[in-house]
Amino acid sequence: MYVVLGTVIVLGLVNTVIANIFGDYDYREGVSVWFRGIFVLAPHPELMAEAPLGFQLHGLAAFGLFALWPFTRLVHVFSAPLGYLTRPYIVYRSRDDKLGNRPARRGWDRVG
Ligand code: HEM
Repeated sequence: MYVVLGTVIVLGLVNTVIANIFGDYDYREGVSVWFRGIFVLAPHPELMAEAPLGFQLHGLAAFGLFALWPFTRLVHVFSAPLGYLTRPYIVYRSRDDKLGNRPARRGWDRVG
């Protein structure tokens, strides 16, 4: 997740530097219109197809990040486990005197 997140951020920064300082591509007329088109259900794939490679890679990496999102800790952007602050402690203990089939490990001896 860190790798994908870092990739998206670095590609974004690279695009900004290259497009603004060295290039003459205006993302406001290309990538931005393409991105808005997705939300208003009127996609313009040709705008992204004509964009410089750096912007295409940035968009692709971002979609990869969005796909990974629910399976990583980024999910906490949408769900914070606030209930943990007020819920009772969970106490784990064995049902009977026997501690299972495995021999007790050092440091895990019974107290009392
Ligand atoms: C499909 C989704 C995305 C699109 C279409 C998109 C598009 C763009 C564009 C057009 C720029 C250039 C802006 C400029 O030069 O002022 C940019 C820059 C940038 N993007 Fe994205 N982006 C997307 C997702 C993301 C995500 C998810 C992240 C971070 C997690 C991100 C991080 C950045 C960063 C750090 C920059 C540089 C900003 C700056 O230098 O001011 N982008 N992006």
